[in-house]
Amino acid sequence: MCEAPGGPVPGKWFLAPFFSQTEDGTTMALADFLKQLDELAAQAVQAFGSATDAEAVEAARVEFLGAKQGRLKAAQKGMGEIDKADRPAAGKRFNEIKEQVDAAFKAAADRSAVSPVAAKKTEPQFDPTVPGTAFRVGRLHPITQTIEELKDIMGRLGFSVADGPEVEDEWHNFEALNIPREHPARDPLDNFYLATAGKATGASTALLRSQTSTVQIRVMEKTPPPIRIICLGRVYRPDTADATHYPMFHQMEGLLIDTRVTMADLKSVLRLFATSYLGRDVHIRFRPSFFPFTEPSVEVDMKWEDRWIEFGGAGMVDPFVLQSVGYDPEEVTGFAFGLGVERLCMRRHGVTDIREFYKNDIRFLEQF
Ligand code: DAH
Repeated sequence: MCEAPGGPVPGKWFLAPFFSQTEDGTTMALADFLKQLDELAAQAVQAFGSATDAEAVEAARVEFLGAKQGRLKAAQKGMGEIDKADRPAAGKRFNEIKEQVDAAFKAAADRSAVSPVAAKKTEPQFDPTVPGTAFRVGRLHPITQTIEELKDIMGRLGFSVADGPEVEDEWHNFEALNIPREHPARDPLDNFYLATAGKATGASTALLRSQTSTVQIRVMEKTPPPIRIICLGRVYRPDTADATHYPMFHQMEGLLIDTRVTMADLKSVLRLFATSYLGRDVHIRFRPSFFPFTEPSVEVDMKWEDRWIEFGGAGMVDPFVLQSVGYDPEEVTGFAFGLGVERLCMRRHGVTDIREFYKNDIRFLEQF
């Protein structure tokens, strides 16, 4: 085989012989060309065969199959120096060799678990030993967390969870709770009445419930005594939002009906609840009050860390209410209470503005 005067160009050995031929003005013998092709193929097969990772496969691909500077490309160009009569034979052999080298490349690429397309890029490959990116796990809203905890505490005291609709009728929100038509609590300015209900169907007016006491009625209508339930849910009032008011908030309603139930039972249950939720040093105080559906009625205050806070109302279920659901007030008595869930949560966690719960600010929410 002829060589260029300066010897072969390192890594580009195929170019040198052909150029040297051109410079001499002679043509290359077919036998030499075929020999060079065979050597090229052998080297390519060897290179692909020994390439164990994607990087080595890619290096071999560039060297042998590179579109511009690849050695096969150079060999193809060199074909122009072959005697015209010999060119078909040279071309045929070139194609065979090309197929052979392509196959070696494909096998190497498959072996290194890289597709031929991916192998063309020099992207970093997947490394299973690199630590992954941490997945951001969400959490329950603080009010939902509080609700779950309250259910848990009251569950241990034997109260099961009841539920009721947020769109209510006037019977369950007012009438059965001894809140008659002329009562100020039914004022349209103090309630979210729904414009859709009633008119066409003749059904009674609907509203977003203003209290969870509705569920007392719904449960008693369906269940004979004894009863021991809580209901935790949303209530709605058209209040302007400020640090302590929001047009939607949550209440925990409690109802216990049995024989010989007294105010002492009510106080015991609320004290047990308060110490479970806030801690050992909680005191409970009842202040006389009025609710249409309890008699007597009280405001419930809890003292925690030297501060009294009002948490809601309570009392002995009014005989009128027992009668309206078909119970006999001579046979059964009971107590009821309604506490503000946001208030409990705020006190426990030192939150000073109820609006924080509903701004959806992740920086606030992720503290819980
Ligand atoms: N429903 C009352 C309110 O929203 C709270 C309440 C007071 C509930 C006394 C009761 C109760 O069950 O006995 O203001």
